[in-house]
Amino acid sequence: MASITIDSVAKSFGSFKALKDVSLTIADGEFVSLLGPSGCGKTTLLRIVAGLETETGGRIVIGDRTVNGLAPKDRGLAMVFQNYAVFPHMTVYENVAFGLRMQKADDARVKRQVEKAAGLLHIEAYLDRYPNKLSGGQRQRVAVARALAVEPQVLLMDEPLSNLDALLRLQMRTELKSVLQEAGTTTLYVTHDQTEAMGLSDRIAVMHDGRIEQVGEPVDIYSRPATRFVGGFMGNPPMNFIELPVEAGRVNIGAESHSLSGPVGSKIVLGLRGEDVERVSPEVGMAFKTAVSEPMGSHLLLTGTIADQPARVILPPTEKVRAGETIGLKLDADRLTWISPETGKALAA
Ligand SMILES: Nc1ncnc2c1ncn2[C@@H]1O[C@H](COP(=O)(O)OP(=O)(O)OP(=O)(O)O)[C@@H](O)[C@H]1O
Ligand SMILES: [Mg+2]
Repeated sequence: MASITIDSVAKSFGSFKALKDVSLTIADGEFVSLLGPSGCGKTTLLRIVAGLETETGGRIVIGDRTVNGLAPKDRGLAMVFQNYAVFPHMTVYENVAFGLRMQKADDARVKRQVEKAAGLLHIEAYLDRYPNKLSGGQRQRVAVARALAVEPQVLLMDEPLSNLDALLRLQMRTELKSVLQEAGTTTLYVTHDQTEAMGLSDRIAVMHDGRIEQVGEPVDIYSRPATRFVGGFMGNPPMNFIELPVEAGRVNIGAESHSLSGPVGSKIVLGLRGEDVERVSPEVGMAFKTAVSEPMGSHLLLTGTIADQPARVILPPTEKVRAGETIGLKLDADRLTWISPETGKALAA
């Protein structure tokens, strides 16, 4: 069993609270991403799990062992860090072989594993080179290969693909997912790239300001954000937020009226995904005033306003809308998020 349990972990740097009561369990074989903006505490949390940073409070359990106080090497995990340290005095081959040599693996196993990992990361051609003769992206792939070569039960990765160009990144992402799935590796993965987190993860923990704001399967987090922050962080374009008046527990959108559950004030924020709309005539739909119309090939991206508030929506690529044109939008009632303007929290569906 190689699950990871993070139990009420806190971390202060002086008076600054970088982590505030963070709890999260990653099941055996599960892939969980920590996703959030720069400075929210992702690396700090990963370093605490690894044993490179000491928590101010809380407990870390790996498998059935509480590992607080154990040195990183005694925690039974492999890691790839943001600043991907590779050993400059070793060839790429020896860098990738490093963990296996530490395990005293025999030469045949070292060779087999190095070749496998190098193939996966497309660094076979550089095995004899020294790291100073590699680009940043190539060095980063050496660091990932080194971690995968030992076939760890638990793998921690901090933005391991950040130095790769878009195409290679996409390719690596798919390959990483397939190899980790096959090996059943328990993985905790840090990224600020929401597409990467969506694509790779069984579950995502969205972090904000030293806390986990929501944990769930990618599609649930995307479709049912618990807070305005999560809705705005996930998705490209991000979720639209439109403040609307409430009368007797109802909101009017175009010709339609939606009833809200629970106690609500005089205003509510509608969280609307850009793709959850359908074009209808302006008389029956919610009015969208187009400022910019961008044909993106796979879709038509419109930037404009709804109820005088900025919004972006997505229509099929075959639609034609001119700048300045007002169109009608029908909303998919099942996919709307209603958010309290006071608390920023979503109302229960
Ligand atoms: N050693 C330290 N001393 C003081 N403050 C620190 C230290 N390490 C991190 N911090 C602070 O803790 C907060 C969280 O940092 P962390 O590196 O975990 O962020 P992150 O989510 O990984 O961000 P990024 O996406 O930019 O890598 C930041 O405000 C950072 O300035
Ligand atoms: Mg970081």
